[in-house]
Amino acid sequence: ARTFTAAENKYEGVEPAVPLRSKKWFNNVEDPEMTSLYTERYLNSGLTLSELRPLNKPMIGIAQTGSDLSPCNRHHLELAKRVRDGIIANGGTPFEFPCHPIQETGKRPTASLDRNLSYLSLVEVLYGYPLDGVVLLTGCDKTTPALLMAAATVNIPAIVMNVGPMLNGYNGPALVGSGGVVWDSRKLLAEGKINEAQFINRVALSAPSVGHCNTMGTASTMNALAEALGMALPGSSSIPAAYRERGACGYSTGLRIVDLVREDIKPSDILTREAFENAIAVNTAIGGSTNAPIHLNAIAKHIGVKLDCSDWMNVGYELPLLVNVMPAGEWLCEEYHRAGGLPAVIAELLAHDALPHPSALTVSGQTMSENCLGDFTTDRRVIRPFDTPLVSKAGFLNLSGSLFDSAIMKTSVISAAFREQYLSDPEDPEAFEGPVAVFDGPEDYHHRIEHAEHVQAGTILIMRGAGPLGYPGAAEVVNMIPPGHLIKKGIELPCIGDGRQSGTSGSPSILNASPEAAAGGMLAYIRDGDRIRIDLKKRTADVLMSAEEIEQRKTELGTYEQRGLVPDSQTPWQEIFRNEVGQLSEGMVLNRAVKFQRIAQ
Ligand code: FES
Ligand code: MG
Repeated sequence: ARTFTAAENKYEGVEPAVPLRSKKWFNNVEDPEMTSLYTERYLNSGLTLSELRPLNKPMIGIAQTGSDLSPCNRHHLELAKRVRDGIIANGGTPFEFPCHPIQETGKRPTASLDRNLSYLSLVEVLYGYPLDGVVLLTGCDKTTPALLMAAATVNIPAIVMNVGPMLNGYNGPALVGSGGVVWDSRKLLAEGKINEAQFINRVALSAPSVGHCNTMGTASTMNALAEALGMALPGSSSIPAAYRERGACGYSTGLRIVDLVREDIKPSDILTREAFENAIAVNTAIGGSTNAPIHLNAIAKHIGVKLDCSDWMNVGYELPLLVNVMPAGEWLCEEYHRAGGLPAVIAELLAHDALPHPSALTVSGQTMSENCLGDFTTDRRVIRPFDTPLVSKAGFLNLSGSLFDSAIMKTSVISAAFREQYLSDPEDPEAFEGPVAVFDGPEDYHHRIEHAEHVQAGTILIMRGAGPLGYPGAAEVVNMIPPGHLIKKGIELPCIGDGRQSGTSGSPSILNASPEAAAGGMLAYIRDGDRIRIDLKKRTADVLMSAEEIEQRKTELGTYEQRGLVPDSQTPWQEIFRNEVGQLSEGMVLNRAVKFQRIAQ
């Protein structure tokens, strides 16, 4: 395991090279009246003038995402103490403040609705308060992108610290991973093998300690990618929440943010096009979540880097899956961390010239190569050699055609059975074709799936009305399972949808289809029995209808909204969100927020 250290007290009496923005609040000689007003009330919290006024004393924000409503990140309430210690030891003054909670498993209708709300509120805090730098306390799925998006927009020095994954879950001797246990148990319940109480008990076994999901779901993925982008200390993202190293990492992160302010290293110095390409390569190697393109494309938009889903395929598809962690593999994040975590993955990529940009800068002040070169894994069961990976060509495909402009498919989780059934047409081994069964949102699917007689082996399940507009925020519902009688025969069905899928799901669905039905996408106009063809070799997805038939169908049916299939907003934010937001392929950002870049003064 890595040790986290940095020099202390090296700034005693040394003026910063660039004047600190916080001194416009606390030491503004041109406006003593405002300085006095700002200063007296912060003194009121128990601080002293010597912690606020000196020109060499940076004010460091700690963006706290832990709370009782956010159990995944709740351990940050404890870890923040070590972050504060590090900030003070290096000559800074810490200011911890709360972020809008985003709990993946708690928020209705979906936590992803709140990513942009948390982003907006953090932009206001970072811009409007006397902060010279910020520590972003991340963890649960959407917290990491929300905080990075805001740091990108404001562009004051920033560093990410993850809360860390939970310890391993066990059911008897068997490992039980977050999320995956839900999908497995759902099948057992449908087959009548367990009852509801057993369902809940099985799932609870996967969560034995503080921390976020212990599989390579969206939380572990997004924190690994924050590190791969260069925004977190090397080796930090995988440390389990309950390990002592996690506290030490908090201290080092606190020390380092003060250095970043002193060295004037900002997010825009780190979040370059090169950094995003590195993160895409890493995402393939770790078997990362299908939510990653949405969130990284969003961060890129806010820092002003051009990035889209075709980059994910072009940079990431050909690379291998190295990390043997659920859902694509067998182990959990504890083994992954003990095997060396992300530096070991990057060392493996570097040794095979497979990290696109080894010289990309990171928050350590060193390059990715300087951080990780030669840090090979100590456990080849968990981090596989580049030449004998778990899966080769394991990245995402970006499909387009008459069904949608863009949708993502995670190829590392395509099962042998699925390949046999759908990818082995002798005419074209990488195409499949079939009739569709269409569902309007998750509720419609749950009501009808068990009695849907037209759903048979060979049917392609379509979920629509689940995108950013149709299900405010875009629901994680595209991993549909077939009716119980087909599951009993071992039959899997391909799924396509305009919503998302949990990063913990091992289902090879075609996801994030954009434009969604509610935004006028073709998915709105297909119906049960229409035939579609997916050609993975050509990266296409088409409905087998002529242009005239498509036009006629559109006239006949009217838009998704005209048919009453778009629900009313339930809250003011849902209404504002839907008026402002873009599609999943574009990162689902607030369109009018993108023009505000590097706004800190
Ligand atoms: Fe929060 Fe998975 S539910 S990290
Ligand atoms: Mg999720």
